[in-house]
Amino acid sequence: MIETINLTKIYKDGTVALDNISFSSNSRVLTLLGRNGAGKTTLTRILSTQLLPTRGEAYIEGYHIVKDANKVRKIITSIPQEAQPVGMASPYEHLIMFLTAKGNSLSEAERISRDVLKEVGLWESKDKPSDELSGGMKRKIFVAMALASNSEVVFLDEPTTGLDPYSRTEIWSILKTMKSKIVLTTHYMEEAEELSDDIILLHKGKIIAKGTIDSLLYKLKDKVRVEGVGDIKVGRLRISYVDKEDASKYLGKYVVKPITLEDLFILYTGESLEEN
Ligand SMILES: Nc1ncnc2c1ncn2[C@@H]1O[C@H](COP(=O)(O)OP(=O)(O)O)[C@@H](O)[C@H]1O
Ligand SMILES: [Mg+2]
Repeated sequence: MIETINLTKIYKDGTVALDNISFSSNSRVLTLLGRNGAGKTTLTRILSTQLLPTRGEAYIEGYHIVKDANKVRKIITSIPQEAQPVGMASPYEHLIMFLTAKGNSLSEAERISRDVLKEVGLWESKDKPSDELSGGMKRKIFVAMALASNSEVVFLDEPTTGLDPYSRTEIWSILKTMKSKIVLTTHYMEEAEELSDDIILLHKGKIIAKGTIDSLLYKLKDKVRVEGVGDIKVGRLRISYVDKEDASKYLGKYVVKPITLEDLFILYTGESLEEN
């Protein structure tokens, strides 16, 4: 269970990065979805005890993130957005370092490293210096660490940002098999739709919507999106939402699309999710 109560973060320069965030979730994959600057990294850092909140409370599996920080740290693994492998060290060496630092014996670390490197598809490249690997493979080293940790809760901050579509789907399939609870951040709508049990839509430090995908999309269930006409302007694109039964009137003249989380985001914020 992850819970926050009026969680607020104001940085020293006055930036309000999180503004009274309250939610609780007990789902396997909780996704924080929002544009750049929404507050996703700030929230992830606070929940994983790397940053203190300005006000408010948060609990991970019942432990208070400030008062019980050491207990929280024992049950979580957090992979930061900016994580980069050490260029000279191989994937295998990264995993051994990670697992022995977590308290495993060397022989245990070797066994787990072999298993997870096979599982994430890094086995063939396990001994190469990391700076010879593709971006997707570099990122997989950290996904392998998350997998190897076997932590109760794993935080992954934008695990697929900047990767090619193939690497992204590979990482998705690894995350789907993970036994840990996952708190994921992303600005990719398809990623949230693919992986999440629960989604929190964050915008400018505030929660604008939360729930399962189905519950989030419920209010638009009888609509379709029509592009090229309408009062809603997203960038240079005009959009309207019309009843499904009227969709045929627009077909041929305009682009008609099914509703996605992006549409919910547009309705709440007037902005597009992915055009940063
Ligand atoms: N150390 C910092 N000092 C001041 N402002 C910050 C700092 N870190 C982040 N911010 C600001 O806080 C807001 C939220 O940032 P962040 O949590 O990184 O969002 P996201 O991860 O969703 O892109 C942004 O306006 C960002 O510029
Ligand atoms: Mg971020």
